[in-house]
Amino acid sequence: MSTSEERLRRLSDLRERSHQGGGAERIDKQHAAGKLTARERLDLLLDANSLIELDGLVTHRSPDPGLADQRIPGDGVVTGHGTIDGRLVFVFSQDFTVFGGSLSEAYAEKICKVMDLAMKVGAPLIGLNDSGGARIQEGVASLGGYADIFLRNVLASGVIPQLSVIMGPCAGGAVYSPAMTDFTVMVEGTSAMFVTGPNVVRAVTHEEVDAEFLGGAQTHATRSGVAHLAVPDEAAALDAVREILAHLPSNNLADPPIGDMEDPVDRADAALDSIVPDDPSRPYDMHEVIRRVVDKGAFLEIQPGWAQNIIVGFARLGGRSIGVVAQQPMVLAGALDSDASVKAARFVRTCDCFNVPLVTFVDVPGFMPGVAQEHGGIIRHGAKLLYAYCEATVPKLTVITRKAYGGAYDVMSSKHIRGDLNLAWPTAEIAVMGADGAVSIIFRDALAAASDPVLERARLVKEYEDAFANPYAAAARGYVDDVITPSDTRRRLIRGLTMLADKKDSNPPKKHGNIPL
Ligand code: HXC
Repeated sequence: MSTSEERLRRLSDLRERSHQGGGAERIDKQHAAGKLTARERLDLLLDANSLIELDGLVTHRSPDPGLADQRIPGDGVVTGHGTIDGRLVFVFSQDFTVFGGSLSEAYAEKICKVMDLAMKVGAPLIGLNDSGGARIQEGVASLGGYADIFLRNVLASGVIPQLSVIMGPCAGGAVYSPAMTDFTVMVEGTSAMFVTGPNVVRAVTHEEVDAEFLGGAQTHATRSGVAHLAVPDEAAALDAVREILAHLPSNNLADPPIGDMEDPVDRADAALDSIVPDDPSRPYDMHEVIRRVVDKGAFLEIQPGWAQNIIVGFARLGGRSIGVVAQQPMVLAGALDSDASVKAARFVRTCDCFNVPLVTFVDVPGFMPGVAQEHGGIIRHGAKLLYAYCEATVPKLTVITRKAYGGAYDVMSSKHIRGDLNLAWPTAEIAVMGADGAVSIIFRDALAAASDPVLERARLVKEYEDAFANPYAAAARGYVDDVITPSDTRRRLIRGLTMLADKKDSNPPKKHGNIPL
């Protein structure tokens, strides 16, 4: 064999070893657990044959002599770049077959390298997580590696989209990298995230809990709000990443990609004209409003299982990507509680970072009353949503479908906090509070003195409703720009988005604001 043949052979052997990861037996174990390998996942995520791997020959540098014969080229993570729908993305995919996907110093350097490249060229970063955490044999070097990644997560925040998929264990401090990215997608049944696992929990708090209940996909999608989506399998998780990315630009200086324009921009939907029930206390499904307005009824809901009194997600109008925030009258009457405020605040800021216009559908009876809410910090949490809307400089379009009461009226993308186009349906009630509550307060003495308090209350409520429970007092002041026929909502929003396409707005120069955390 000639020297050059030998050299080629050596390279091919190294590549082969790298592709085998931790070996056939561990790959079988991975498959038996219902999980794909790091490379199989990248094949599903990226456009066909688009992966260009980097650092496939990097090995760990552990001083442990027992590990000298386990220097697998590439170590425990596959990194590189590829394309999704033809757009450049950077990726890392943790390989559980190599030391349980645990993070070594060299492995961390590989991830940092793609993060730095993603920042330099302005392209999204996608991390596929499946790891036993810090590589125990590497000690502090591994902890340092995590910190190097955390720092980059923060520096990249708001510059490039960062998406995390949890496809296996993700425990200890390792959870904080996904937690600082823009979106976290979890796979049901095979993924778990927790700061301390069931054994530590048992020892410290004497609570008996399994990994699934403590930190499985459903837990984080419905209770903690840590996961933005929980999906049944890995293929669905990778599809979700592709779908989210389709709504985002590659970086904060670009606009999101434009979708198709097959749905007519002037499509009127007559069902919207009667969707709001006559009885103000009867709910209706805001999902239906959203679906009837947006392109082809396609709505990618984010955090659908958590804080369901508010709906957030991506859709398109006239091909343009939008972020939808909407009350859900079917859950807690659409009142704003702490979780709903935090959920929507985060989404508003995500859209604002990435130049996605906000469309807000308002039907809010106010902030949620109660000792639990007050003691849980509804003031602090509600302020987050108010802050996020005030700060946002993307086009902000608002449709008040029914109630816009009290402080929640101000918060929900009102004109006063730089709403660009504020529309109301004829069913809108823009007031300090509902008629019943208002009458109880301002006519307390009159009601007490009335010969027939029930009749008197009904009369006063009717009087109040005629005077205040409508959009016209707000429209007379220009607080709403127009009262529109509901069936015309789609056309008006698309015209508004087109009008605002070149919107420029900014906040005063500062190091950063001090959002109430
Ligand atoms: C080195 C590890 C490892 C680790 C797993 N392995 N975790 N090697 N460092 N952290 C190895 C195992 O020795 C095994 O090697 C292989 O990976 C697969 O592990 P199994 O235990 O056989 O798999 P499984 O039964 O599926 O259990 C997976 C697991 C468990 C739940 C992740 O391995 C586990 O609890 N590991 C330790 C987790 C942990 O405590 N990590 C540190 C957390 S603190 P072989 O050769 O048999 O295949 C942390 C701090 C982050 O991460 C700090 C950030 C600031």
